[in-house]
Amino acid sequence: MKVDVLLGLQWGDEGKGKIVDVLTPKYDVIGRFQGGPNAGHTLEFDGIKHVLHTIPSGIFHDGVKNVVGNGVVIDPVILKKEIDALINMGVKVNDKLAISKKAHIILPTHRLIDAASEKAKGKEKIGSTLKGIGPTYMDKTGRNGIRVGDLFLPDFEERYQKLVEKHKQILKFHEFEYDLTELEPAFYAGVEMIKGLTVIDSEHYINQAINSGKAVLAEGAQGTLLDVDFGSYPFVTSSNTTAAGTCTGLGVAPNKVGDVIGIFKAYCTRVGSGPFPTELENEVGEELRRAGHEFGATTGRPRRCGWIDLPALKYAIMINGVTQLCMMKADVLDNFDTIKVCTHYDVDGERIDYMPYDIVSTEVKPVYKEVKGWKTDLTKLASIEDIPAELNAYVEYLERELHVPITIVSVGPDRKQTLLRDSVLV
Ligand code: GDP
Ligand code: IMO
Ligand code: MG
Repeated sequence: MKVDVLLGLQWGDEGKGKIVDVLTPKYDVIGRFQGGPNAGHTLEFDGIKHVLHTIPSGIFHDGVKNVVGNGVVIDPVILKKEIDALINMGVKVNDKLAISKKAHIILPTHRLIDAASEKAKGKEKIGSTLKGIGPTYMDKTGRNGIRVGDLFLPDFEERYQKLVEKHKQILKFHEFEYDLTELEPAFYAGVEMIKGLTVIDSEHYINQAINSGKAVLAEGAQGTLLDVDFGSYPFVTSSNTTAAGTCTGLGVAPNKVGDVIGIFKAYCTRVGSGPFPTELENEVGEELRRAGHEFGATTGRPRRCGWIDLPALKYAIMINGVTQLCMMKADVLDNFDTIKVCTHYDVDGERIDYMPYDIVSTEVKPVYKEVKGWKTDLTKLASIEDIPAELNAYVEYLERELHVPITIVSVGPDRKQTLLRDSVLV
């Protein structure tokens, strides 16, 4: 079997958690391949709403292994909170969760450096979630990091202190004030908890699963436009959020990648700083935020809202080799008379249909096509056959533009509010 990948095509928060949960019954293993607790993946079912940060979104199903891959960065404090909350809900986490020995650990000082670095950037700040993601990946590529497997070594404490000393120099440079003694007890408690989890060589585990005919789904975090190579740099996260991240973050060879399921909202959002060509800083944007409850699942920050951006989506589809699409939050557009779709950008009077290199400083004006809204409450629909003609026309128009089938249309946050256009997927 090949590994299917599910990932975001915009700036994150597309609804990855919901769809992974919906698709999990089809799979034996769900693996996260990058990012860390900057992610907030929301699942809703049976009246329960749950937000996961590190743990893959298959955790609520029995008989499925959830693997946190080597490409993920783990904050022991946050992971402990997540696990405690799940255990309180009766989820048998220990049976279903495995952590890669090679995943890197976020130290309290990584979080402090994240805050110091954002403060120093002032107006140019990235708008980081301040979870220590950037500094931890810097230590990984700088070859200074501490990995999950290191927590078991007799000299772990020395390694930890050595890295903390380095971090103290950086914090001194930033003249950043902090009290590490307040942060360390929770860190050490988290480390002890991780030592009691199933810690594995996840690349071997995943490849054995593939070879024995098991179905594996790789779950992305963030979105393609936040990818460190292909996103709106420098306003990005510090990992490869794209399909290639599956190969490096789980140890999956490129020829073992199967379907790439790309997920996007029927409009667009972004949280944090950086370019957003179709952003609506007006009452229409406000309406999208209100109707879509667009507030960050990790930080609670209001998300910036705007219309769907086809040049950006086409780029994301190209980079990831997307084979199927899921369109999320169609219901958020229920009350709009007309819906706008950005088909091109206008740059200095020239019409282009791709994202320019210097999207940060280039003035990019969206060119829109208007389509008719459906003015129907979609949240109660049980079948794709019942969707209004205008929504069907919108979906078919997007398919023609994007050249990829839309196999799922999501019409509400609950598991059940998922309309299948192609029964092959689920
Ligand atoms: P993720 O990071 O990609 O998993 O997405 P988030 O959980 O951060 O944000 C998606 C938000 O939209 C969550 O609050 C979901 O419960 C919600 N959601 C997902 N799908 C739909 C949908 O089709 N309609 C509506 N109204 N909300 C949805
Ligand atoms: P999920 O998986 C939306 C954004 C931050 C900031 C930038 C860098 O829930 O879709 P970082 O903390 O990584 O240094 O922040 O990336 N960001 C996200 N935006 N959804 C996410 O994850 C995000 N993770 C990071 O807001 O702009
Ligand atoms: Mg999210």
